[in-house]
Parts: sequence; C-alpha cells; structure tokens
Amino acid sequence: MTSLRTDYCGLLRAADTGRVVSVCGWVDRRREHGEHLAFIDLRDHTGIVQCVVDEKHDLRSEYVVRITGTVRNRLDGTVNESLATGEIEVGDCEVEVLSVSEPPPFPLHDRVDVDENIRLRHRYVDLRRPRMQANLRLRATVNAAVRAAMERQGFVEVETPMLVASTPEGARDFVVPSRSSPGSFYALPQSPQLFKQLCMVGGIDRYYQIARCLRDEDLRADRQFEFMQLDAEASFVGQDEVFEFIGEAVRDATEAVTGNRIGDIPTMTWADAQERFGSDKPDVRFGMELTELTDVFDATEAKVFQVDCVKGIVYEGGARELGRNAIDDLTDSCKRWGAKGLAWFRVQEGATLDGALTKFMSDAELAAVPERLGAAEGDLVLIIADTRRTVNHVLGLLRLELGRPPVNEGGLDFLWITDFPLFEALDEAGNPIPAHHPFTMPHPDDLALLAERGDALLQVRSQAYDLVLNGWELGSGSVRIHRRDVQSQIFELLGIADEEANAKFGFLLEAFRFGAPPHAGFAFGLDRLVALLAGEENIREVIAYPKTQSGSDPLTNAPTPIDARHLEELGLRVLPPAT
Ligand code: AMO
Repeated sequence: MTSLRTDYCGLLRAADTGRVVSVCGWVDRRREHGEHLAFIDLRDHTGIVQCVVDEKHDLRSEYVVRITGTVRNRLDGTVNESLATGEIEVGDCEVEVLSVSEPPPFPLHDRVDVDENIRLRHRYVDLRRPRMQANLRLRATVNAAVRAAMERQGFVEVETPMLVASTPEGARDFVVPSRSSPGSFYALPQSPQLFKQLCMVGGIDRYYQIARCLRDEDLRADRQFEFMQLDAEASFVGQDEVFEFIGEAVRDATEAVTGNRIGDIPTMTWADAQERFGSDKPDVRFGMELTELTDVFDATEAKVFQVDCVKGIVYEGGARELGRNAIDDLTDSCKRWGAKGLAWFRVQEGATLDGALTKFMSDAELAAVPERLGAAEGDLVLIIADTRRTVNHVLGLLRLELGRPPVNEGGLDFLWITDFPLFEALDEAGNPIPAHHPFTMPHPDDLALLAERGDALLQVRSQAYDLVLNGWELGSGSVRIHRRDVQSQIFELLGIADEEANAKFGFLLEAFRFGAPPHAGFAFGLDRLVALLAGEENIREVIAYPKTQSGSDPLTNAPTPIDARHLEELGLRVLPPAT
C-alpha cells in the first residue's frame, strides 16, 4: 500500500495553496456551515487543519478519515491567527472514513481537566491530546540526546538483567516467584547498581544504560513504581570526571529541548545547602535564604530564643499580603513539620518590628534582626528557634511554601550537591544508616572518624553527590569503595554481619578479590528530567502508561489476582487480607 497521505495536517501553509493534498487523522471538531457544508477540523500529531466538506458525510468526533482536497486561502476575515494553519483550508474535499469512533470518553482539549482514572483507563485516547503528544516526543528527544552524549564520550551500552537478587537501594523489592524453584523469588532491579560495578571489574571501563528500575514505594508526584534512569559508571575516575560526563548528557538534553545550552553546573556542599536553603535539594530559582540569628540572641531574655539555633527568613511584602489567618496556617504547618512554633514579625516604618514577641526582646535584638535579615517596611520576618537540624528543615519547607515558583517558571537551575554525609541517622541499635548505599566511599579526610561510634559518625562525609534541578533530586551517585578491607569496615559499622553481607552482596565482594579498579558513577531519573523540561508537575504526564497514585493501572486492571492452578504451579498460597 502506498501512503494514504501526502501531507501532515498541521504543516500546511499558505505556500501550499493550489496543491491537491491528502491528509489523514482524527475529526477534532465539526461545525455546520449553511445547508450543505461542514467545517471539519482534522487533527494529527502535528496539529489541526480546517477542511470544508459537504453535508452528506456524517463525520463525528474522533472518526479516522482521509481527506483529499485542494489547499486554498481562507476568505478575508476568516483567518485564524491562533492556528499555525489558520491562513488556509482544504477545499473541494473527498472524504474516506477509515474508522468510526464511539463518542470519546472525555473531551480531548488540553484546557479541559479530566479525572486521572478516566484518562488512564482510556490512555490511548488521552495520548492523542496535544499535551501528551508533545510530552512523549520531548521524552524521545531527551532519550536520543542523552544516548548520543554517552556514546560520544566513549560509554558502552550494557544491558543488565531484570530478574535479579535483591539490590541495595533501600526501597521494597517487587518480587517474581520462580516456578522451577518453588518458594524462591527473583527481585526486579531497583537499579543496575551491582551489575554496573561488576562491569567495571569486568573491564568495560565506561558503562551506560537507559535502565528501567522498579521500586515498591509510596507513589508521589515525582515517583512511580517503574521509572527510567540514565545509569552510568566509569573506571579510574573520580567525582570531577563524573560531573563532566553527566553534565554533558544533561546539557545536550536541555539544549535539544530548549535550543539553549546551559553553562557549567555549579556545585554546593551538602552542609551549605542545609544552612542556606534548609534542604539537600535546594530550589535556587529564588532567594529567601535562611539567615543565622543565633548570635543575635546569645544573651536573650526571651525563652523561645534560648535554644541551640535561631534562624530567619524574610517574606518580602508579606506584612501587607498575609493576614492573621494565613500566618496562623503557616504556624500550624511549621508545627506539623516539627517546630514548636513560628515567631513572626511585621516590619514597620524605620525597620521596626511588630509582633507578639517584641516585648520579650531587647532593643539591640529588635534592631539587629531586621538589619541582619535585610528586611524592609512591609516585609514579614519569620523565625524558627530549635535544634539546628529542625530549624533548617522547617525554614527550608517554609521557604518553599512561600517562595517557590510554579514548575514551568523561573528557568532551569541545575546544581551539584557534594560531600553528603556517609550516614543519615543511627538506627535503634545505634548502627548508622547509610545515606546513599553501602558501597559509597567515605571522604578521604574523614577516614579517621570511622573509628568513632554514636553521633560522631554522623559527621563522616562521603564521596556521594546529587544533581538537583529546580528543587527536585534529579540523580545521585558516588565514588565507590573498591577495596574489600574498607568495604568490610563499612559493613561492620552498618551492623551488617559477614554472613548477611555474603548472602546479599557476596558476589560483589568476591568480584573485588579479583582486581577491582577504582570507579565512580551516577544515575539520574529520566522521568524527572523530562517532566521538568516539559513544565509538568507530575512525572505521570511524561510516561506513556503510568500507574495511578494508588499504584494501579486502570487500562489493564493490573495488578490482578492469578488463578489457583498458576498459584499451585508456583508453590504459592494467598492468605486472606489481614483484618
Ligand atoms: P537513586 O536511588 O538516588 O540512585 O536513584 C537515582 C535517581 O532515580 C530517580 N528515581 C525515581 N524516579 C521516579 N520514580 C521513583 N520511584 C524513583 N526513585 C528514584 C531519581 C533519583 O535521583 N544506583 C544509584 C545511583 C548510583 O549510585 O550510581 C541510584 O539508583 O531521579
């Protein structure tokens, strides 16, 4: 069969006037015109063109048709400026109905908000919407750019298995029962982490993969059960080289989508990010930085400020903008986030403070606070006093609540966060919990600290780093431990006994006995990068067939029960749900 079409709907222009064309697509809209004519807006992925057809065709929304006719200029006064094809129309049309359609389950126009379940139940219709078309095509552009960047830099694509033993990313595994070994299970990979490290031992030197990862964790706007990573690992390199090659991939992807090349990605240490932005993934599209006030209250009479740490932020114009109820809501939020309360002041003429706590403060304190914060008349000063950790955490969230621009505004601010702590907390048994994964190399300057126990261990820095974009964690990586002795020391610290380490990661430890090169790597979430480049708040909008927030797929009804025979074959019995 030769192609049914000569042209795409959305690409016809005034220069095509006089040409006989065949266009194919879906009937977007039909408008009657006089007695014998109808205007059909025909849609394909490139856009819409108006076709003038005679009445005898009963063309309904979403019918699939082929229209052959002559491109002509629209009459004066009927030009549609908001449409790329708005100067022309296709006239003298012959219409061939290729497929009929029931009335679509929801209107296809982007401006209409449709319930998520209904959209996903009929995803094939939803995909026809211009927004989804644009997002999936943008995604393909990003994939191609990233792949090309890695190839150009000498990375070799290696595919790693989907049926694996458990991987160490810290989420729950999805498991697959084995028929040939009843009672045994494969795990689906949370990431290719261990295999890519084995590739380094195997001399691949530079590995990459656009890898599907699966994690059974609570779903959120930036999380799905299945997602894609650009995963990479390289031998005989350190952090700087990783920043260089991942930076290239990110710069190329961004340029392919926006047409602009971003410059070098700046770096910030984890400790600075906490102090300045109260977050390990700071959104630096806006200021409102956390300002130190602890020393201002060194000798304070005010009980609330007699604590480890006092810091503040300024909400410009907030004294005028926010009423008492709004401030009470903010106070409730701060309490929910872990603070005891929120100290707030309206800044008045002459930078004087007005607020419930002023009567407990000295003149020096009253003068120093607005000065230190750079607050001016009309601003709202917001202060949290608590442990340093709580102050940073709560003010960081408050800052986002008050200042964060919408996802599609304020540009693209990439940032490397370096020097993450090796451990994020201590568990009940006093064992440290790794902040990244147990294969992360400690910071060379902090090796001596590994001999300490308890809270001192939380000071140990690692050679782990994250890439952040507009306040989203885009990816993480680290320089890895490649020596068995250091790895054993870390396992011991983590309270992972030899047997457990051997059972879980024995193959990696064994591989390290046979000549492991120093290596480092990184993985970033493609869904997240694509969502931010597309200006979408939820990664679902850039995934062709995502799950709902509750983890189901209304299209295929997954997950579904399996029949008794199948269960028996797998040696499984399903318990009734716990009540
Ligand atoms: P990490 O667990 O930080 O690191 O994952 C890397 C990136 O993958 C994305 N991501 C997700 N995207 C969507 N849905 C999810 N459920 C989800 N979970 C993670 C994020 C995240 O930053 N093996 C290490 C990398 C390494 O050390 O090389 C790893 O997987 O964008």
